[in-house]
Amino acid sequence: MIGDKKVLFSGMQATGSLTLGNYLGALQNWVNLADEYECFYSVVDLHSITVRQDPAELRTKARNLLTLYIAAGLDPKKNCLYYQSHVSGHAELAWILNCFTYMGELNRMTQFKDKSAKHADNINAGLFTYPVLMAADILLYQADVVPVGKDQLQHLELTRDIAQRFNSIYGDVFTVPEPYLGKAGAKIMSLQDPSKKMSKSDENPNASIYLTDDTDTIIRKFKRAVTDSVGVVKHSEEQPGISNLIDIYSACTGKSVEEIEKEFDGKGYGDFKLAVGETVADLLKPLNERFNELSKDKEYIDGIIKENAEKAQYYSTKTLRKVQKKVGFPVRP
Ligand code: TYM
Repeated sequence: MIGDKKVLFSGMQATGSLTLGNYLGALQNWVNLADEYECFYSVVDLHSITVRQDPAELRTKARNLLTLYIAAGLDPKKNCLYYQSHVSGHAELAWILNCFTYMGELNRMTQFKDKSAKHADNINAGLFTYPVLMAADILLYQADVVPVGKDQLQHLELTRDIAQRFNSIYGDVFTVPEPYLGKAGAKIMSLQDPSKKMSKSDENPNASIYLTDDTDTIIRKFKRAVTDSVGVVKHSEEQPGISNLIDIYSACTGKSVEEIEKEFDGKGYGDFKLAVGETVADLLKPLNERFNELSKDKEYIDGIIKENAEKAQYYSTKTLRKVQKKVGFPVRP
């Protein structure tokens, strides 16, 4: 707790181009939860270098992502928006937690398996211990709740296991966090292959809606989205493409699946795809406008980066000192 509020932590990587999946699975929920919790939203640049990055590009993308957090509606006076690399406690706690995490646990992580298959020439130790750094992010702020998309649930489960293991040895040091999944949008699938999640790293640009896509591009991509020959707008296992579009429409409008099925009863896929495309475009347009406006104000963004890193440093140090003492490191005179 900070004051009378529970704590929320979440983060996003500044690699690739952010997709509608990132927005509907995470960012949109972050904005909705911001008033209820004391929130920490990090741009997790330490995680990004588990895969080779161009340094200048990483720096630009990290800044754009932090700006996007604000453009999406997170008030930087109320929410702590900061770069992970500006707060030393993340790496320090990750080291300690590495010593409380088993190789067998990390070997089971599906993201590690996927990423090592994709980057076979660079299966580095950071990629392997990535989930421990993620656990450190969350536990450092004693977070009660962590809003994420479904693909991160396995990492959250590991975080809980590490916290419980540590607490069982040293007493109640860490808050054991709960994941938070939004009602809709927790797993947005590729528009070209609805058996795969929509991903920043997809090679086919038609598979993903990028947050920077303009209206025409968005509508065109939805028009081309893979569907089926059933011809009915219905959420069912046999219709994964249409079900994905229903999920997207639901996450954007707040309408239930039943309402959507009713709305498009008797209508063709063409009408439905156009409605989804227009809705998504209407959602992303103001986001892009605010982003472009904010990006011009260098001083304002710089101020936020500095102020919020100090705030994050303050809260994270409290936990870190407690942990260092518990494991037996000498107290600082
Ligand atoms: P990242 O950067 O891959 O994704 C950021 C958030 O977007 C969600 N997401 C999706 N949700 C629905 N459908 C999709 N197709 C989709 N694709 C991505 C992710 O679930 C995530 O919530 N390891 C994390 C970043 C991280 C983190 C943390 C998150 C580092 N430390 C601590 C929470 C707490 C990652 O790579 O997310």
